[in-house]
Amino acid sequence: MKRYRIAVLPGDGIGVEVTPEALRVLEGVAESHGFGVETESFPWGAAYWEKNGRYVPDDFLEVLRPFDAIFLGAFGWPERVPDHVSLAPLVRIRQAFDQYACVRPSRLYSGVTGVLEGKGPDEIDFVVIRENSEGEYVDSGGRFKVGKPDEFALQTAIHTRKGIERILRFGFEYARRRRGRLTMITKSNAQKYGYVLWDEILDELRPEYADVEAERQHADAAAMNLVRRPEAFDVIVAANLFGDLLTDLGGVIGGGLGLAPSTNTNPEREFPSMFEPVHGSAPDIAGEGIANPVAAILSAALMLDWLGEEGAAAMIRGAVESALGNGAATVDLGGRLSTVEMGDAVIRAMAERSPAGRG
Ligand code: NAD
Ligand code: IPM
Ligand code: MN
Repeated sequence: MKRYRIAVLPGDGIGVEVTPEALRVLEGVAESHGFGVETESFPWGAAYWEKNGRYVPDDFLEVLRPFDAIFLGAFGWPERVPDHVSLAPLVRIRQAFDQYACVRPSRLYSGVTGVLEGKGPDEIDFVVIRENSEGEYVDSGGRFKVGKPDEFALQTAIHTRKGIERILRFGFEYARRRRGRLTMITKSNAQKYGYVLWDEILDELRPEYADVEAERQHADAAAMNLVRRPEAFDVIVAANLFGDLLTDLGGVIGGGLGLAPSTNTNPEREFPSMFEPVHGSAPDIAGEGIANPVAAILSAALMLDWLGEEGAAAMIRGAVESALGNGAATVDLGGRLSTVEMGDAVIRAMAERSPAGRG
């Protein structure tokens, strides 16, 4: 029997509430599909910081390195630890493990009321592929003349030919497996070095992917168009920061952040990839037991796709679809189910689909 070793980082806030639900679903689907999941959980986060003066241990990358995959709840608790401290390890994992492709699907499931009037499941089904290893997230810069009246800060984005080309190829190949449409989102009308390089590389690659219809949009227009005409998007490729912004937008267009999953993929498989919801630790609702676990559950499905267990992943998505379609809803979706009850609803839907409905 195949066994996968997963490092689990529940993290902070609702991270520790939604992660167990994703793991319950994972264990259930593993059993019905004949593979094993061995998890090891690491209690890193704000409480660890208060005890040890560090958010994660110094050797956290070496600890995570041998696992087949990493599953993360969420980090961050701004009242206890500054965000740029608590989130640094997350960004470090993405960069050190070269998880350069961040895949964030937005799909409105039927049964969920969307925020866009007149746009249903047929109109809302796109994937944002976010460059996850460079751009604005590289710590390049510094603080100068600190405390002086002429103090300044410099923070420089880095866009490399290698980084742009590989994420665009990833996007083109992804688009080939979907509806064959790619939209690259930049701001090359204002940022004439970095984003003009993106434009040029897109044009260089076009002939190799002539079967994919590739267009460009500036980020301001794209934000508007995602609201106005979400059906015009299939695969979006964006640099790091635009990808971040557009996936909170994509999350809410797809029914809410409580439903939005994410990968942090190292396509070459030289390092473990990491899977997590798009949302954060949501301190405003943490501890109430009302967080929606579906984003975490769908992130576990993306992890199974990556591990080669596509049938099990499809079963999870099918179960989520039927649970939502039958009206299962947490507070963010206008319902009354608790986090655990929502997990139960997905597990029940899985049981109904197994074994005849497998896959
Ligand atoms: P957030 O995503 O945590 O929450 C935004 C809003 O969405 C909140 O009102 C929250 O209650 C709601 N929400 C989010 N997930 C939900 C769910 N599963 N069910 C129901 N409602 C949900 O964003 P924020 O409040 O800006 O950030 C909180 C903390 O999380 C900060 O420290 C931030 O830096 C961090 N953060 C971490 C990650 C991560 O670890 N990957 C991602 C984003 C934000
Ligand atoms: C995300 C988050 C992170 C990001 C933060 C918490 C560093 O917002 O995963 O979308 O900006 O990448
Ligand atoms: Mn974000």
